Amino acid sequence: MAVAARIEEVRNELTDLAERSRSAAELMQSVVKLLHDRMLKYNWVGFYLLEPGAEPPVLVLGAFEGAMTPHTRIPLNQGICGAAASSGQTVVVDDVNKDPRYLACSLETKSEIVVPVFVRGKIVGELDIDSHFPAAFTPEHQALVQYCAQVVGRKMEAFQA
Ligand code: SME
Repeated sequence: MAVAARIEEVRNELTDLAERSRSAAELMQSVVKLLHDRMLKYNWVGFYLLEPGAEPPVLVLGAFEGAMTPHTRIPLNQGICGAAASSGQTVVVDDVNKDPRYLACSLETKSEIVVPVFVRGKIVGELDIDSHFPAAFTPEHQALVQYCAQVVGRKMEAFQA
């Protein structure tokens, strides 16, 4: 199946999942599973959430699919994850071995994307994906991962009335 068609299909499934999920936690579990199962180059998929009230702030590993990572708690001044959370911007790294910020999770990882999750304009966490393939996260993939992060942010908003 062509990449664009698969992305479209996964995007539609996400929309359904978001409607069906009874909590943000349930949705995050479903999102990591869907992306890991269906997107062939997404070899590790996980959410990190900012620990409420932690000072200094720290990202804590949440739902994930793929091998266990040594990085279960990441301060905002470390890693690609810390860079995305502290800037509030999507970070795409085509070759992790050339990025001095990179915290290694698997020796096989070649590229990575991290997209922040916002609730009412405030960052609450992020969606992190690693690929065994260099430059896996082209603009069409970025749009899909951003859509996933947006859908989760909206679900969280709905439960924080
Ligand atoms: N590579 C990330 C750390 C998390 S693992 O990829 C699961 C980083 O540089 O922040």
